[in-house]
Amino acid sequence: MPSPRRLIAGNWKMNGLRSDATTRAAALRDKAGAARMALPDIVLCPPFTLLTTVAQTIGSTLALGAQDCHAADKGAHTGDIAAPMLAEIGCRYVIVGHSERRAAHGENDPQVRAKAEAAHRAGLVAIICVGESANERKAGRHLTVVAGQLDGSLPAGVNAANTVIAYEPVWAIGTGQTPMPSDIAEMHAYVRKRLSDALPKDDEGERIRLLYGGSANSGNAPELVATPGVDGLLVGGASLDAEAFWKMVLAAV
Ligand code: PGA
Repeated sequence: MPSPRRLIAGNWKMNGLRSDATTRAAALRDKAGAARMALPDIVLCPPFTLLTTVAQTIGSTLALGAQDCHAADKGAHTGDIAAPMLAEIGCRYVIVGHSERRAAHGENDPQVRAKAEAAHRAGLVAIICVGESANERKAGRHLTVVAGQLDGSLPAGVNAANTVIAYEPVWAIGTGQTPMPSDIAEMHAYVRKRLSDALPKDDEGERIRLLYGGSANSGNAPELVATPGVDGLLVGGASLDAEAFWKMVLAAV
């Protein structure tokens, strides 16, 4: 089975105003445009307010993603954003089930699944985040926890074209700590096996891309992308620095 095309996604979280977002997006667009090699898929996920600005800046060289969507296609949901709205303004991806949303907004697996299904209805690729807490890892429950998240949040109709899984240990996000490569490899192999068992038809489960996320930076990116089973990175803090993010893209070439 050939390795899936790698993917490097930048999750800008709640950072950026129009001027710095435009500068960063334009720098990445120019670097991608000038690159003389085949690049991995590159996805920028700015906050909602900057999606249109970034869409206009990057054109078609890079892909646009959002950080969340509602499970419904429209309706009385004050402050929420529906997946068709994201698709209309040029998004191709949307992150769902990020641990910050699970923690701060109480999102659970059935809600994450419903959001991923909404993303699919709108033609978006869902980047579904899973990952254990520090206590869960200490207790040796990391595999069980992630298995439960996968079972609970994988949408009906999931396939390699419409879904990406990001393994993001909660304790590694924004902390500067990363798991040992052997721990990442163990988790990715475990997730891969579950996906392959669940989706044997046309080898869909073999081809779904599995990203690692959590304190990935330009220094550790080469080792992270070389870790067995890692098809790319979901990058938070380091994606706010165009130079650092670009180095991570190059590490995945
Ligand atoms: P971090 O965040 O790279 O800042 O640790 C990753 C994420 O939350 O996706």
